Amino acid sequence: MSKIYASMVSIASYIPKNCINNKDFEKFIDTSDEWITKRTGIKTRYFADSEETSSDIGVKAAKVAIQRAGISIDDIDIVICATLSPDYLGMPSNACLISYRLGIENKPAFDIISACSGFIYLLSLAKSFIESNMYKNVLIVGAEKISSILDFNDRGTCVLFGDGAGAAVISATNDKSKRIIDVNISANGKYNDFLMTPICSNGGLDSVKNIKNTTGKPLLLKMKGNETFKLAVKTLANDVKEILLKNNIKSEDISYFIPHQANLRIINAVGDIINIDSNKIVLTIQKYGNTSAASIPMAIDDIYSSGKLKNGDLLLLDAFGGGLTWGSSLLYFNG
Ligand code: ACO
Repeated sequence: MSKIYASMVSIASYIPKNCINNKDFEKFIDTSDEWITKRTGIKTRYFADSEETSSDIGVKAAKVAIQRAGISIDDIDIVICATLSPDYLGMPSNACLISYRLGIENKPAFDIISACSGFIYLLSLAKSFIESNMYKNVLIVGAEKISSILDFNDRGTCVLFGDGAGAAVISATNDKSKRIIDVNISANGKYNDFLMTPICSNGGLDSVKNIKNTTGKPLLLKMKGNETFKLAVKTLANDVKEILLKNNIKSEDISYFIPHQANLRIINAVGDIINIDSNKIVLTIQKYGNTSAASIPMAIDDIYSSGKLKNGDLLLLDAFGGGLTWGSSLLYFNG
């Protein structure tokens, strides 16, 4: 029997309709368009409506991904969703909600939490499921309503994030030239307090230690931005160098470098270290801000929908996020 490879056969995204520009934040916190642009690259981000949830926007991206894959709903064997802003804390998972709304029943569905590295973690799972011959078509979705967990009194975080969703179908193929070449994922919990949503619905670790009941308090994102920044540059540069070396691929062979969109300065620093042509770096941070697990698929769809991404293009992906988690991937796009 010929070897089975995993292949990204479609990509899609959904951007909520409410565009928020930097000046909107000047109205309620001590910040400026100039600071946000200079320190992050962000000009706008999109927020979902109050009644819209992360699974709602995930469903919209997923529908298009399935349609673009040219398969039917019944062909999907499993749904996995990455999100740090699920509809419900704990259960049901967004993947279950998304599956049901797509009309998929009696198929496995679960969520993963790897913050901004979520899409790379999803790719790793999809590749393993397919190459072990367990499934033929895996629907992966990164869906975030980060606006629901932002502290709008914290100028160090609330200006950085946006809502959105991205989805892809990963399918089995015998064609080696269409494969996901490699996925590298890693984590180090030593840095768990760099990025946190510290108050769990039942009080969480902090309140267990302090014997306090914080039930009902919202779950708000906190970040040690500067420490995270420095570690992100170092870790991502090493990770990307390693995956290129391991697979004997040079940066000039890459069609597009699609990094997680957290900060333009992080992206440029990593781009410089790995010496990649700046025209090959895909940037959506100016438009969408940091959409966490949705940022990479939204960026892939950005170049797909504008006609730049072609079948057979070699993509280099990388991400870094809360946990801390990180990862990278090399793949031939097959959409
Ligand atoms: N407007 C104006 N001033 C601000 C703002 C703001 N929005 N935010 C922070 N500042 C101020 C700070 O208060 C500080 O002021 P001080 O010197 O008077 O104390 C000053 O700007 C410098 O603050 P730093 O935090 O050192 O600023 P830095 O240049 O590091 O930029 C940023 C902050 C944008 C958060 C950056 O550190 C960053 O991008 N970090 C990494 C983010 C990341 O990669 N996260 C991982 C993925 S996210 C996830 O997993 C969910």
